[in-house]
Amino acid sequence: MIKYSQNTITSLNIKLMETKLFLEKFKNFSVQDFEHLTYAMIKPDAVVAKEEIIHDIESRGFTVLFETNRQFSEELARNFYSEHNGKSFFEGLVQQMTSGPVVVLILQKMGEIPCFQAWRNELGATDPAKAAEGTLRNVYTHKLFGGPEAYLERRATNCFHGADSVASVIRESNLVLYDIAMS
Ligand code: CDP
Ligand code: MG
Repeated sequence: MIKYSQNTITSLNIKLMETKLFLEKFKNFSVQDFEHLTYAMIKPDAVVAKEEIIHDIESRGFTVLFETNRQFSEELARNFYSEHNGKSFFEGLVQQMTSGPVVVLILQKMGEIPCFQAWRNELGATDPAKAAEGTLRNVYTHKLFGGPEAYLERRATNCFHGADSVASVIRESNLVLYDIAMS
C-alpha cells in the first residue's frame, strides 16, 4: 500500500481542486478565448526539467493557466495523434508519448498573432536538428541530451508539443481535459 504523508495528501487535494475549477472555467471558453490560448505539452523525455522549462515558458511571455502531469494511455496517444496514423514515425511517437507522464499545459498569450502560432514560434522546427538557436526544441535537446545529434540517435522526435491551429487547440484540449475529468 502506498503511504502518503499529510503534505502529499494536502497538495493532492489542492491539485484536484485546481483541476476541477479549471475544468469548470474551460467549459465556458468561447472561440475568441481560444485565439489567446494554446494546448502544449512537455513530452516524457523532458519532464525531468519541468520546473526550469515552466519558468522559461513564463519568461517567454506565456501565462500557464493549467498544468498537470499525466500518464497517456496508448488509446489516448493514438487518438491524440490520429492525423499521423499510418506514417512511418507513428508507432515510435505513440511509444514515446506513453513512456512516462507528460506535462499537459494550457497556455495563454494575448497579442497580435494567435497564441498557438506564438507558441510554435518558440518551439522551433519539428526536427530538433533544424530548430533555430534559442527555440525550446533546440535549447532543451542541448541541455538534456548534449545536442540534437545525440538525442536523435535515441529517438527520432522532439521534446515539446504545440497545437497547429485554433481548431487543434480546441480539439486537443477537449480530448485531454475530458480524459482527465473522466478519471
Ligand atoms: O509536432 P509538430 O506539429 O511540429 O509536428 P507533426 O508533423 O505534427 O508531428 C507530430 C510529432 O511526430 C512530432 O512532434 C515528432 O515528435 C513526430 N515526428 C517524427 O518523429 N518524425 C517526423 N518525420 C515527423 C514527426
Ligand atoms: Mg503537429
